[in-house]
Amino acid sequence: MPDEHRNMDRNLALEIVRVTEAAALSSARLMGKGDEKAADQAAVDSMRRAFDNVDVTGTIVIGEGERDEAPMLYIGEKVGTGNGPAIDIALDPLEGTTITANGGYNATTVVAAAESGKFLHAPDTYMMKLAVGPEAKGILDITDPVPLTLKRLAKALDKYLEDITVCILDRPRHEELIRNVREVGCRIQLISDGDVSAALATCMPDSPVDILLGIGGAPEGVLSAAAMRCMGGDFQGQLKFRSDEEKARAVKMGISEPDKIYTLDELAGGDNVIFCATGVTDGEMLRGVRFTPRGAITNSIVMRSRSRTVRWITAHHHFDYKPKY
Ligand code: FBP
Repeated sequence: MPDEHRNMDRNLALEIVRVTEAAALSSARLMGKGDEKAADQAAVDSMRRAFDNVDVTGTIVIGEGERDEAPMLYIGEKVGTGNGPAIDIALDPLEGTTITANGGYNATTVVAAAESGKFLHAPDTYMMKLAVGPEAKGILDITDPVPLTLKRLAKALDKYLEDITVCILDRPRHEELIRNVREVGCRIQLISDGDVSAALATCMPDSPVDILLGIGGAPEGVLSAAAMRCMGGDFQGQLKFRSDEEKARAVKMGISEPDKIYTLDELAGGDNVIFCATGVTDGEMLRGVRFTPRGAITNSIVMRSRSRTVRWITAHHHFDYKPKY
């Protein structure tokens, strides 16, 4: 790849973080107000406007929904100035709408980018997920029984089985999974929302989370896979449809094998994946927005799969000197 393209790619990661920062600043203002829709809308509006200043020809492949159900950041929408490289964009303007509305833990704004055609166009349904850090890459299979998976993981991490921590979304659908994990004797961290952060946590050496298991949103699965590509972790996913109608819709959208187990590269492929997230509320991985006199501080993570560089960016924003998002 020519040098000017490499530089352009690098700069793009730092441009995209402005987009996640803008969404975080707007939605954080609505923390704890009990209004999920307003918090999400604030993030969407800011993210959309911030994209207008990014030199890309971007196409949203994971977004707020189909065109008929989402007026902005919908699947197929073009974003960016149209002057830069053609890329696909996967985004969640507010990953953790309920968390933000409740003033809870772990809400983030997320954007990932890849070369055209490299993200799975995941339908708006559920996905069964398995995420682990680099030490356990390639040794687990999402179709194996949970006890076997956890034993293999413990061996790979050189940990006692009872010291393994499994992160699971706190949902009634996970009753059996939780029972299985408890029977094996592992620790569990139940989270109310935000399984993208949980997937990332498996790659963070100072996080207690060793593995994410269970069913969450399919679009969030693609975003998690993008992050895992940048951090060297592993992710497997299988679509889980809530109804036959949902399955039929997915097939119509191009999902030819609805029961397929997707590997990391099938979810987020290519050799140039970018992932950016900014904290909205405090979380395991990122601090939430801190409002300061006439400004705010944001914390973001910016990563590229090509270099595997992970940057933590603390930005001090001065509202009197900033474009209004
Ligand atoms: P949003 O806030 O973006 O809607 O998603 C939050 C989330 O917890 C995801 O992290 C997770 O994948 C999904 O919702 C789980 O869906 P459900 O709440 O229906 O179990």
